[in-house]
Amino acid sequence: MRELRVALIGCGAIGTSVLELLKGDAALQVAAIVVPAEGVAAARQVAPGVRVASSVPAEGIDLVVETAGHAAIEQHVLPALARGTPCVVASVGALSAKGLAEKLEAAAIAGRTQVQLIPGAVGAIDALAAARIGGLDSVRYTGRKPPQAWKGTPAEQGRDLGALSAETVIFEGSAREAALLYPKNANVAATVSLAGLGLDKTLVRLIADPATTENVHTVEAEGAFGSFALTMRNKPLAANPKTSALTVYSAVRALRNRVAALAI
Ligand SMILES: NC(=O)c1ccc[n+]([C@@H]2O[C@H](COP(=O)([O-])OP(=O)(O)OC[C@H]3O[C@@H](n4cnc5c(N)ncnc54)[C@H](O)[C@@H]3O)[C@@H](O)[C@H]2O)c1
Repeated sequence: MRELRVALIGCGAIGTSVLELLKGDAALQVAAIVVPAEGVAAARQVAPGVRVASSVPAEGIDLVVETAGHAAIEQHVLPALARGTPCVVASVGALSAKGLAEKLEAAAIAGRTQVQLIPGAVGAIDALAAARIGGLDSVRYTGRKPPQAWKGTPAEQGRDLGALSAETVIFEGSAREAALLYPKNANVAATVSLAGLGLDKTLVRLIADPATTENVHTVEAEGAFGSFALTMRNKPLAANPKTSALTVYSAVRALRNRVAALAI
């Protein structure tokens, strides 16, 4: 299989780690890094010799991978898809915003290509998306984090997070409401929703737990296939404690599967 020329959008915690893992990869060549003006110097330092650009080059790119957020999807992913370049998207939480998933679909149809959403920090997305074909009855996502991880969120309203002595449910509702109130925690809930029952029918519970030091994700699903419960205890990425290392591996897996003779 020929080498794919990849444009990487975003060069933060995930982008930098993806670059590291792709170093020396014979089948995937990072041909461009796309960052805003203020990120250019840092990107040059991380990847000397790689072209750093303010938009995805119109020529010479076979595949785009986004690790940058909602604005970058609008600015760079939509036009790349419309031009016919396939895109891999990590900021799945951004698709909780009304209309963005439809815009991505429309751009991919216009460009006769495909946008792939990575499972990222959560597992069993393959099982959930397959189970949907037979019919799902219920899908529930529970996110459990130490109290301090919910600082700066509505979880602080009416309670002192530092004083919690027992696990406390800080949110219970639909994935759509969760994305509005807790946008920084939207990636897993949005991914589970898109693979399963959608944002309105996916139940989300967020818990502040003084007894945990980890970020724990649990997905429970029931349907014609049977049922499953999956719990993930992800280690954080050193460069950004809010991001799981698994998200990086998930992005690299998606890229490698594009060129692998046997993909899994
Ligand atoms: N799918 C998942 O499970 C999952 C898990 C964690 C994070 N994420 C998402 O991945 C994305 C990246 O996470 P991170 O931890 O690397 O964040 P980060 O803040 O460390 O890095 C973001 C990078 O994007 C760049 N950027 C911002 N706006 C841009 C734009 N308009 N165009 C180009 N580049 C732009 C920034 O300069 C920076 O380099 C976030 O959207 C985050 O929500 C997804």
